[in-house]
Amino acid sequence: MKRAVSGVQPTNNLHLGNYLGAIKNWVELQDSYDSLYCIVDLHAITIKQDPKVLRQNVLNVAKTYLALGINPDKSTIFVQSHVPQHAELAWVLNTIAKLGELERMTQFKDKATQHKENINMGLFDYPVLMSADILLYDPEVVPVGEDQKQHVELTRDLAERFNSSYGKTFVVPEPLIKKEGARIMGLDDPSKKMSKSASSANNYVSLLDSPDIAAKKISKAVTDSGSTIESGKDKPALTNLLTIYSLLSGQSIKNIEKEYTGKGYADFKKGLANTVTEFLSDFQAKFNALDDNKVKAILEEGNKKARAIAEAKMTDVKTKMGLL
Ligand code: AMP
Ligand code: TRP
Repeated sequence: MKRAVSGVQPTNNLHLGNYLGAIKNWVELQDSYDSLYCIVDLHAITIKQDPKVLRQNVLNVAKTYLALGINPDKSTIFVQSHVPQHAELAWVLNTIAKLGELERMTQFKDKATQHKENINMGLFDYPVLMSADILLYDPEVVPVGEDQKQHVELTRDLAERFNSSYGKTFVVPEPLIKKEGARIMGLDDPSKKMSKSASSANNYVSLLDSPDIAAKKISKAVTDSGSTIESGKDKPALTNLLTIYSLLSGQSIKNIEKEYTGKGYADFKKGLANTVTEFLSDFQAKFNALDDNKVKAILEEGNKKARAIAEAKMTDVKTKMGLL
């Protein structure tokens, strides 16, 4: 079986962009790929975290994976910091990663601008740790949103560089980025991606927003000029809302456009709000029904499985490099 590896940071609650851009695809992959889905807590601490909140967020992300349909009988769900080989391989990869290529990473540039007071080495090295997360497991594919493409390309470069210096060690992975949903835009500003760290909570629908709040955010969402419900390059706001509608309802954008022919923005937003709140209610019911201890046991099991693979890979890496 081919393998898929991906991860999400346990910072704040996940939003519709995380689901539609990444986790929805993970759920689809788990039947045909040996899948490992990580909670990347070591990435999260590159931005200052409150320990109590971080601890809770790790558990919440695990519950989110489960409630969205990641099945622990099919997929391995684990915590990055519980598999020490991630940090260990990151160090090794640091010795072949170039300063120049890391300086080009757009996510680093964005975060360095956002967090001027804390531009730490970890933030700069974030993409190398992500490469380690991936390369330890030899996956063929890495299902992510569009914003992670550059990091997966760096991962490919590092894998090829290591292989050509030390002999074939790593599988060179492909990013798996869906056409639809790979970049869900902010509800308050369709020129920027939906983001947990946006300055206004009206930017995103959190998966844990109450249906009431979610409906309000949708009613406030920015729209384009005009009055017809249609997608297109000149209609970024509507295209984004139609994409969310389509992916959550399983209807094509064309069909939704047809359904709203002759109707206005208010009707369309009401329909979208219904679709979103139905999805959220179902998700939240599953999320709330999960028992903390059972979730912790699932993580323990996943950590063990991931460690076994990572230990073997790290032994291979050390042998190839001449580390005793
Ligand atoms: P992060 O929240 O940065 O840990 O991202 C977790 C996953 O969600 C990654 O695969 C991202 O590419 C994806 N993602 C984050 N924001 C969006 C968005 N606005 N649209 C689509 N995918 C996203
Ligand atoms: N850097 C990714 C993000 O910000 C999260 C991530 C960490 C990841 N390690 C990974 C994604 C490995 C895929 C594979 O979204």
